[in-house]
Amino acid sequence: MRLPQPPNPAPDEPLLQSSATTTPPPDPAVLAAGKTVYNQLCFACHQPTGLGIPGAFPPLKDSDWISAPNPERLVRVILHGLTGPIQVNGTPYNGMMPGHAPTLNDEEIAAVLTHLRHEWGSGASPVDPTSVKIIREKEANRTAPWTLQELEQLPPAPANVTAN
Ligand code: HEC
Repeated sequence: MRLPQPPNPAPDEPLLQSSATTTPPPDPAVLAAGKTVYNQLCFACHQPTGLGIPGAFPPLKDSDWISAPNPERLVRVILHGLTGPIQVNGTPYNGMMPGHAPTLNDEEIAAVLTHLRHEWGSGASPVDPTSVKIIREKEANRTAPWTLQELEQLPPAPANVTAN
């Protein structure tokens, strides 16, 4: 699937804009592409409503993971998956999500996360394909799903992987 590309930032511009108030609304074409990805790959577990299935699949609607100020953790979860105990809005889950690194390109991952953050993440900032590319390259040797403990031990996201 080929998705619309955002224009390249000017050389002196940061890769991603800061603060929700200055971030322009996401491109409708990107939102539509993200919704298509969701309806093909994510809805079977997280459900068309985004509410998941209690005890098995956590909700994405209003999830504090989805609305996180920095999307780095989200990008890692989509690329390589997630396993072991987590909490979503205070409710515990302990399942296994497969990674999508082999099936989704950088634009598709950015689009689905931009769509989810717009739709179900209180309008959190869009995710740039460049951020996905940077993280994908950094984790090129990874195959195993992340655990929450590993995600918590990561150093702070580099400035150019910040979506807000
Ligand atoms: C095969 C089922 C399955 C598929 C397909 C799947 N997920 Fe998940 N997802 C899970 C499970 C299970 C967890 C919780 C893992 C755990 O308990 O450690 C999870 C956790 C998450 C989380 C973090 C917790 C939360 O609820 O916010 C996000 C974000 C997420 N998934 C997004 C996605 C997106 C986006 C897609 C599609 C690209 C997707 N998932 C596809 C099963 C799935």
